Amino acid sequence: MTDMTSTKDLAPDHWSRLNITLHWLIVVLISVQYFIGEWMVDFFDGGLDGKALDGSTVVFGYLHIVIGVSILIAALLRLWDRFTHGRPEHCKNEPNWAIKLAKLTHTALYFFLLTMPIVGLTAWLLGNEWLGDQHVLASSILLGIIALHIAGALTNHFWFKTDVLRNMLPGQGRARGKR
Ligand code: HEM
Ligand code: HEM
Repeated sequence: MTDMTSTKDLAPDHWSRLNITLHWLIVVLISVQYFIGEWMVDFFDGGLDGKALDGSTVVFGYLHIVIGVSILIAALLRLWDRFTHGRPEHCKNEPNWAIKLAKLTHTALYFFLLTMPIVGLTAWLLGNEWLGDQHVLASSILLGIIALHIAGALTNHFWFKTDVLRNMLPGQGRARGKR
């Protein structure tokens, strides 16, 4: 009998199209978040201090919120897809330590993708400076994890010579329902 809760039993050859699309959409959205982050700091701190805010601060401030919530939804959708339709097994050419590190990195990425928007939103709604500081701190840690993740993807491609990176590129996904 197949255990539907185990992703290993579901292991398809390829990522789903939905998962690949969301992966790259999140990459774009996260990049925008870092680009407009300074405006959000002004929006938040200026709001707390009761300062008059200029137009771009308000627009980019709200944009930061909308994009952040979109990232949360996209990450939840990815997790749903991963647990219902599975993910490809880790490549056999990859050494064990690298697979373990990849799993740890992926868990950390999901953790930050889910908690950052929640902490940011709570900081903003409550006007809580301490939570705002944790959000800023988390944004630096996330950058480090993303750097490690990119290094891992490139190491797989150029050093271990696996298909890991190729499998995540647009156009490599399987149609929904097919395995
Ligand atoms: C994964 C999603 C998010 C990422 C990657 C992210 C990233 C960032 C970055 C890079 C900064 C600027 C840090 C700096 O320049 O020092 C920032 C500031 C901020 N973000 Fe987000 N953010 C996300 C989601 C959200 C959401 C949904 C909200 C909801 C309101 C939010 C609220 C804030 C606030 C209030 C600040 C200013 C904090 C302060 O000045 O103490 N963020 N965020
Ligand atoms: C904002 C930046 C990024 C975030 C948040 C992110 C997030 C993630 C997450 C959470 C996974 C794990 C999927 C899972 O096991 O369910 C993943 C997989 C992957 N990502 Fe990224 N990623 C980012 C940038 C990149 C970049 C720039 C590359 C290419 C250089 C890349 C290449 C890959 C590859 C190849 C996989 C598949 C790994 C495997 O099969 O084990 N990612 N990404």
